[in-house]
Order: sequence, then C-alpha cells, then structure tokens
Amino acid sequence: MAFSKPFLEEVKRRNHITDVISRFVPLKRAGSNMVGCCPFHSEKTPSFTVFSGTESYYCFGCGAGGDVITFVMQSEGLEYREAVEQLAKMAGIPMEEDPYERKADQGPQVKKDRLFALNKAAARFFYAKLQSPEGAYAREYLQKRRFSDTTVRRFGIGFAPDKWDSLCYHLRKEGYTDEEITVAFLGRKGKNGKMYDLFRNRLMFPIFDLTGEVVAFSGRRLNEEDERKYVNTSDTPVFKKSRILFGLNFAKNESENGLILCEGAPDCIAMHQAGFGNAIATLGTAITGEHARTLSRFTKMVYLAYDIDKAGRKATMRGIELLNQVGVDTKIIHLGEGDSKDPDEFIKNHGAEAFRAKLSGSQGQIDYRIGEILSRFDLSVPDEKLRCSHEMAEYVATIGNRLEREIYASRAAEKLGLSPESLRNEAENKRRTMEKNAKKQEHSKITRDATGYGDQVNTDKLRFSSEAPHEEAVLGILLLHPELGKELAPLLEPEDFATSFNRKLWELFRTDFAAGIDPELTADGSLSPREIGAAEGYRAARATLGSNDGDTLRSHIDTLKDLRSRREYDGRVKEDPGALREYLALLRKQNQNKNSE
Ligand code: CTP
Ligand code: MN
Repeated sequence: MAFSKPFLEEVKRRNHITDVISRFVPLKRAGSNMVGCCPFHSEKTPSFTVFSGTESYYCFGCGAGGDVITFVMQSEGLEYREAVEQLAKMAGIPMEEDPYERKADQGPQVKKDRLFALNKAAARFFYAKLQSPEGAYAREYLQKRRFSDTTVRRFGIGFAPDKWDSLCYHLRKEGYTDEEITVAFLGRKGKNGKMYDLFRNRLMFPIFDLTGEVVAFSGRRLNEEDERKYVNTSDTPVFKKSRILFGLNFAKNESENGLILCEGAPDCIAMHQAGFGNAIATLGTAITGEHARTLSRFTKMVYLAYDIDKAGRKATMRGIELLNQVGVDTKIIHLGEGDSKDPDEFIKNHGAEAFRAKLSGSQGQIDYRIGEILSRFDLSVPDEKLRCSHEMAEYVATIGNRLEREIYASRAAEKLGLSPESLRNEAENKRRTMEKNAKKQEHSKITRDATGYGDQVNTDKLRFSSEAPHEEAVLGILLLHPELGKELAPLLEPEDFATSFNRKLWELFRTDFAAGIDPELTADGSLSPREIGAAEGYRAARATLGSNDGDTLRSHIDTLKDLRSRREYDGRVKEDPGALREYLALLRKQNQNKNSE
C-alpha cells in the first residue's frame, strides 16, 4: 500500500464524508443518516444514503458505495492516489513521502498535474500573443464582436498565431516533452518528424473545469476561409467533452435562480458580459446524460438557449428529456426574431434588457414539446393530422401529473381542431398502458435483483442462492459492528463462503481482524470501486433492516457452516455413492434438531 495507515486515517478524519459529499449533492437528514439524489445515476427520488456512523455512502438505486476516498474517485474520475492527494490538499495535510512514486513516474503515462500545468502554460502563451503586436487583428476581431477587455481578461481569451510551431517551440522551452504536448492535444508530430501546433490562427477560448483549472481549448477560426470553424481539444486524461460545461466554474455560485444553457463559448461569454452570470455552455449541441447529472447538482431549473437551427432544436428536445430524467425542470428561450440565431447575436442586436425579457417570457417545456410536435405535420392533410394526433396523445400521456395532462390535452386538442375529450381519452388510455408496463418492469427488476441475476460483482450469487444471503448478512454485520469480529473471526474460514466474491471479502476482513484493525472498504488496490459498492450494500442492508447483534451473527455463521457441509457432501456423493448414506443421516439429524428446538 502506498500510504501509511495513520496518514489515511488523518485524511479521512479531516474530511467528513457528509461535508465532502454535500459539496456535490444536496443532502437531507433522514434519521441518523443523510439522503440525496445519487450523483452516479439519474434519479428523481433520493436513494443515495450517507451513513455518518460508518463514514460511508451507498446508493440503493445503482449500488455505488464506499468511503470518502471512493466517493472522490467516482465523482471526479480520479485514481485512488489522486483522490487521496486531493482530500489531503483540501484538509491542508502535507503529503506523505511515497517510496513508490518515483517508480510509478517512470511509466509512459503523462500525469494529470503535468497536463494541468501544460494547459495553463499554453493559456498564458495564447493570452500574451493576443496582447502582442502579432495579435492586433485578433484584438480587432474581438472588438468587432464587442467583447470587452474585462471579458477578455476574465475568460482568459487568447490568440494562436498563424505559424506552424510557435506554441510547441514555447512549451518545449518551458520543459515539456513532445509526448506531454501530444497527450494534451496541443501539438502533434508531423511526417517530417517535427512537432506542429494543432491550433493555428485561431481565437482561443480556454475551457476551465469546476475548480478553475484550464483543461482544454476551443479555438475559433479567424480566417473565414479556413475549413474548420472550430477546433476543440479532443478528450484527454483531464478533459471529457461529454462531461464539461463551459462557464460552470463561474456560474456555479449564481445558479439558485436557474442556469442558462447555450451552444458554445462565444454565446456563453456574451451572456456573462451582458450580466447573465448564470450562463453555461456545452461545446456544440452534443448534450449528454453526464451533463444533465452535473447540472442537477447545481440547479433545479435550466433555461435552454440553443441556436434556432435544426441542430439546436434537436439538442433542445434532448436536453428537455435528459434534464427531466434527473428531476431538473426546463424552460425554452425563443430568440425567433429572425435576425439572431443565437444569444450572442441577439444581445448584440437587441441588448441585455431584451434578452432578460426573453428569459422571463420563456416557454415551459410542455408547451415547447406540443409546439414542436405540431410543427412537424401539415394539419391540412387528414392523414398527417391523424398521425400528429396520435403522437400528441403519446406525448401527453408521458406527463406525470393528471391535472397537467388534462390542461395540456385540451390545449393541444384546440390547436389540432379536435374535441378535448377525444385527445384526453386517448392520452389516458396510453397512460394506463404505460403505467402497467412500468409496474411489470419494476417487478421483474426486483426479482432480478433478489435472485442476483445481473449481479456483476458477485457472479456466483445465482448459483449459490441459499448461501449468498447469509454470507452477505455476516459481512454486513461485521462491517457495521467490527467489534463482534474479534471473537468470531477465528471461527470462520474462507471455505465457509460459497461465492468467490464474498470469500475474497472475508479473506481481506480476516487479515484485518488478525492484525487487530477494523475491516476497511477502500480502493487501495485490493478492491475496485464497484466491489466496494457491493460490500457497502451489505452494510447498508443491515443498517436499514435486521438485528445486528452477536447472536444473529452467530446464527448466520452456523447456517453457513451447515450449508458448507452439505456442499461438501454433495461433492463427495458425486464421486462416492457410499457417502450418500452419510449425507442422509446428516439431514435426518439436522431435521431432528430443528424439530426438537
Ligand atoms: N462547434 C464545433 N465545431 C464546429 C462548429 C461548432 O465544435 N465545426 C461548437 C463550438 O463549440 C461552437 C458551438 O458548437 O461554439 C456552436 O457553433 P456555432 O453556432 O456554429 O458557432 P458560434 O458559437 O455561434 O460561433 P460564432 O458566433 O463565432 O459563429
Ligand atoms: Mn454565434
């Protein structure tokens, strides 16, 4: 293990799990625990629980779980080491010397802190170039677009010169290797073996992560003849396009009245400059579930301000749906004056006050959806009108609240020239079918979970369905009450566990007990975050139900021993029919015991 026990204990002690998690997820008190909506899967009703007694968390919906270190790993996509480092840094604990670190450094991997440093150096370079004589025409362009000097400074806007290798040359001088530059997506080796810049003659928008580190760039062409309008950093170890939200590092503190989501850096920056500090952007129209989940950590309301073109409308529909899934309400801003395709142009043409009016006059998502469906059909053609009505009923059926379904069905019926009853009836029929199907699915999910089908961590669970619940009880109780382990641990052998995952857990626990320490679920290499989640599930199940005293533990252990001897007899009977008699005798004896109890 790379870190010493006392060091890790200090790190955990100084980072209380509820404090750390509530920076990501709003938590509410529920008894002695805290609950919230899980940051690792999409949900509207909270099944994510933080147990302050054991300093652990578990999601009853998706099975994610672990300690504070696992949480940071999972929520920030960090390695174990990096998560520990981050927590230590936050608590102001100096890092402990790690004898293994130098060895690890020799690998070909580029470390994340090098990439952060590299991106920062590149941002500084672009910024300086914009201010230099070379950047005169880029500055002019910015002026034409009405980006002020303050804005340029605040967003660190820069300029990539129209040369082949000015950045690579500069970065090398600063001590960065070709490999690092390549991994950061700032340069690449050409056929002639020389490094060349990937961003050339472009206005450079640095992309910041939530903590304000530069992790990538979006580069807009300055010469309209250039083939590619934008060049964006491809995914790197510190940047995932499907996850990043431009501007969120600024907007996160102004999100209480909702966030405004748009299509790219220029729009987002234009909104900030006009006084809308709650603007953020995806890089283009590819909005993802990860974006939605991130957003849901900061707000309950998102104004969608995508471009008015087809791609923008598609992204709007997708945004509504993805955000719905995570319990975030949406409103849609219509710029539709014809002269402005995006917020940047609108603000330039009509001013900030007009944009504010658009914001307060924005449409609810249901009206937007109804309008969108209507717009796709020619209602003067009977066949199209029929198809449109069916699709409308289908959509209205998805609205969760009955009263809302009524209201919107009537509204849509009017637009379609139908009687309100007919649309309402069709919608209600579809709703009933939907609810029935949902119940069926729910039911099969529960039976699936109960039988362990699809349990990808403990793959033996289905095969040993009698044993697994007792194994889980034993491990869960011991995690909850490690003091019981001191006495009972020596009684229990790894072979008493039938399923391989639980046996592995027991081997780890047993070693800990033998060393006089409480078993710990941490991702230091012996267990993966998913395995930790599964074990956390055992603990959580015991914490919410069941008695967890020594007697209960003992009886589960007894059952495991019984089941083990049956398994072993089973095995022997197959090889030696003579053992059958012995086995039957054992069964008889067990039955007698049970009857006499
Ligand atoms: N985009 C991209 N690649 C392209 C076009 C667009 O990655 N070829 C992304 C950029 O992040 C861009 C966003 O999609 O900011 C929106 O594209 P678009 O509306 O075409 O550009 P604007 O942001 O409006 O830029 P400008 O105002 O300078 O035209
Ligand atoms: Mn634009």
